[in-house]
Amino acid sequence: MSDPKKLYIKTYGCQMNVYDSERMAEAMGASGYVTTDTAEDADMILLNTCHIREKAAEKVYSELGRLKPLKDARPDLKIGVAGCVAQAEGEEIMRRQPLVDLVVGPQSYHRLPAMEAAVAGGARALDTEFPEEDKFDRLAARPKARRGPTAFLTVQEGCDKFCAFCVVPYTRGAEVSRPADRVLTEARGLVERGVREITLLGQNVNAYHGAGAGGDWTLARLIRALAEIDRLERIRFTTSHPNDMGDDLIAAHGDCDKLMPYLHLPVQSGSDRVLKAMNRKHTAGDYLRLIERIRAVRPDILLSGDFIVGFPGETEDDFQDTLRLVQQVRYGQCYSFKYSPRPGTPAAERSFVDADTASDRLARLQELLTRQQREIQNAMVGRTVKVLFEKAGRMPGQMVGKSEYLHAVHVTGSGAAAGDILPVRIVESGPNSLAGVPATA
Ligand code: SAH
Ligand code: SF4
Ligand code: F3S
Repeated sequence: MSDPKKLYIKTYGCQMNVYDSERMAEAMGASGYVTTDTAEDADMILLNTCHIREKAAEKVYSELGRLKPLKDARPDLKIGVAGCVAQAEGEEIMRRQPLVDLVVGPQSYHRLPAMEAAVAGGARALDTEFPEEDKFDRLAARPKARRGPTAFLTVQEGCDKFCAFCVVPYTRGAEVSRPADRVLTEARGLVERGVREITLLGQNVNAYHGAGAGGDWTLARLIRALAEIDRLERIRFTTSHPNDMGDDLIAAHGDCDKLMPYLHLPVQSGSDRVLKAMNRKHTAGDYLRLIERIRAVRPDILLSGDFIVGFPGETEDDFQDTLRLVQQVRYGQCYSFKYSPRPGTPAAERSFVDADTASDRLARLQELLTRQQREIQNAMVGRTVKVLFEKAGRMPGQMVGKSEYLHAVHVTGSGAAAGDILPVRIVESGPNSLAGVPATA
């Protein structure tokens, strides 16, 4: 028997791409491929790409440039582009990059093995359709081995919101939820393989409305059913939209022990004028009231968010509104970006804030966000948290895990194994992580 072929996948962008890459690796496993960690010895290289900002999209073309010598040296090497750039610019990639053998959009991954067979026969293959069938029904999602006690599980895909700046509704298509029983089956399979924490994924995960017993289930209902699974200790979900934060989901944060006290709830801007221009369909006040209701049931919840500065038409006053909102919310973790015009989106037609002003606002916002993050992290010192240990750290006897609040925690001498959850007293707050000691010591 010949040696298995080797597949190297490089993943960019969001966690949904991470999940998809795992599914593609499994699907290709059935076609005789094993994964490798280096491009140099691969028979096939797949770039799973992101189109969210210009810089993210450009990475694909520079990476393809770097792969050219490999392909020149080994003409048998197959190169594929998957993900959101594939969806948005697939035909252009094929035209501009003769070294690309295969382009596959995010909704067609179940067709990847058939495409690989065509490519092996010397053809070039492109599939950026939005097929009727659900790719996840046809992708294995039965990993043979897991590398750790945490896993992602996509439950919802696509977006119908059409924020004026965003490519996701075009690259991922309309909002679709996976049936509840499939999610539960996949979750049970993960738990059997040692997974203790599952993060439910979706572009608008809290808009989940999958078919379940008695009709469509909300995300809260799905979480409560998942919480019944023995040995599944922790549940998280991301990313949520403020307008889909239902009463039952807020309530779950108050009384579902396995649902972790962490919520990523992007608001993008604190200015009502900008929010309207972004087509977010909520005001800053709506968002603040929502945060108040969530904190009423779970006062210690750690909030995280996304911000865009320099959106077309944003004035200094609008930006001040954003700083004010950040001060009111107090985030434990945030992502902030300079607006990046994306072809085909409504905002790309509008006149931009000049680049220096946008950079200056981003620096000021990040200064505030970093300060908040540090304060909240430093306030953990002296507290006892529960850590789910994930892997060995760099020091002898050290293990690294995550607290309920998703802070990375280093602990030495705990005797813990990956998958254990133990109480840890936090003794130190570093730049990117906490250090703790076993709480019983
Ligand atoms: N579905 C999620 C996140 C989508 S993309 C949500 O609705 O919140 C992740 C983040 O990228 C967004 O929250 C936004 O802050 C940022 N983003 C999206 N498009 C962008 C653009 N054109 N320029 C800059 N940032 C952008
Ligand atoms: Fe993009 Fe808005 Fe949809 Fe989020 S809600 S994916 S930002 S269009
Ligand atoms: Fe990027 Fe597509 Fe995710 S554009 S952020 S990879 S949905």
